[in-house]
Amino acid sequence: MSQQLAIHGGTPIITENIFKPWPIITEADKQAVCDVLDAAGEERLWGGTGFTTIKLQEAWSERIGRKHTLMTNSGTAALHTAVTAAGIEPGDEVITSAFTFVASATCILHHNAIPVFADVDLNTFNIDPASIEEHITGRTRAIIAVHIHGMPADMDRINEIAERHNLIVIEDAAQAHGATYHDHPAGALGDMACFSLNGIKHLIGPEGGLFCCDDEEQFGRAKLLQSFGEVSDLNVAREYNARSLGWMYRSTEINAALAYSQLQRLDEYNAQRQRNAAYLHERLSELPGVVPTPQPEGVQSAYWLFAYRVPLSEAPVADVPQVTWRETVAKALNAEGVHTRQWQTMVTPAQSIFQTHNAYGRGCPCQCPHGREVSYNLTQYPNARQVIDQYLVLWHPQIEYWNLVSPPNDLEEMAALADGFEKVFTKLEQLVPLAREAADDADSPAAAD
Ligand SMILES: Cc1ncc(COP(=O)(O)O)c(C=O)c1O
Repeated sequence: MSQQLAIHGGTPIITENIFKPWPIITEADKQAVCDVLDAAGEERLWGGTGFTTIKLQEAWSERIGRKHTLMTNSGTAALHTAVTAAGIEPGDEVITSAFTFVASATCILHHNAIPVFADVDLNTFNIDPASIEEHITGRTRAIIAVHIHGMPADMDRINEIAERHNLIVIEDAAQAHGATYHDHPAGALGDMACFSLNGIKHLIGPEGGLFCCDDEEQFGRAKLLQSFGEVSDLNVAREYNARSLGWMYRSTEINAALAYSQLQRLDEYNAQRQRNAAYLHERLSELPGVVPTPQPEGVQSAYWLFAYRVPLSEAPVADVPQVTWRETVAKALNAEGVHTRQWQTMVTPAQSIFQTHNAYGRGCPCQCPHGREVSYNLTQYPNARQVIDQYLVLWHPQIEYWNLVSPPNDLEEMAALADGFEKVFTKLEQLVPLAREAADDADSPAAAD
């Protein structure tokens, strides 16, 4: 192994692009899509009541042990559907995570309700039940428990809090197909759940979503919302009567066919992701200065992303900002061919839509007659802010390569990544001058201009 770090001119550990892209499209996937197209004229290609859509919905319900699944045209649509199905009304408050993709919060605004953010656990990056409890008010109606990076949230504690306060629990399982929590599948851990089928998820449509629940009334509301507020029943002539406010969240037979075909290989691919992640986790755990995200006991992550932290408290330097240290480490890893960067770059409530309250204009829903002024003061989320300052994920610079622990990448690629980590993290002191220089540059008057 070359001793000099690549960032200082040494030979990189990974000299060429050895990483393979996700998703994997097989002949069976192509045939499934062609079969749908070939049946045009005999079967419906669209409309949400097609044969393949129903087949996918039934297979997913059976897999996770739910009574109902409804396919939508995105994970975001599935989340909005869940908020509606939960009976949320204008001005109601829904608690979600301060470290997530924005749709986990905007789905609440979509229904004129108010997102309230809870802080996260510093180790798992998942919503912290203690913080949920602190944010409950008389207006709180539901909790959106996001399984971040595919790691199930602390559902026993979340469900216990929800039961005590009479709240509905919606799982945002957009990233967690195939994850388990004490042997129960993600998607069956709360009152209802939502998955994304976009092209970078474990089950691809390559766009789409799945909404899942058991309750008949909730499912009825979900179906109305999905299609113009109208009753959709193949056996009944269309009434053209909007019974409630609806959207157009239906998907197509083509997306359903691809997702159904991919579903046949989900477990095989997830096993490979989990094997890859376990290997990396073990190698990284032996190194100073890097903290791979731990899996709590009884939890099996789907590893949508492989995340780790580089806390300044474990660095051989104390007089540079945490963010400068993280960026210096990231540059050194990238120079070795270990592709790493951030996914979310700020805590969710820091995004402009929340800071400026500009969702609908005129300050609504907070300033609407049913609303309440909620504060998105960032001091409420110290752990989420620390996560943002310290974390990195493995992520190829070409967008479609995305999550490096995904198949077809295997242990050979993981070994190369781990060697890259080992080289950098056993020579961290060599990064100290670079970090100091970067900190000085950031402090210089030119940088301030
Ligand atoms: C946590 C989370 N929730 C919701 C979504 C929204 O899913 P979609 O992109 O399918 O609308 C995503 C992904 O994009 C996500 O990562």
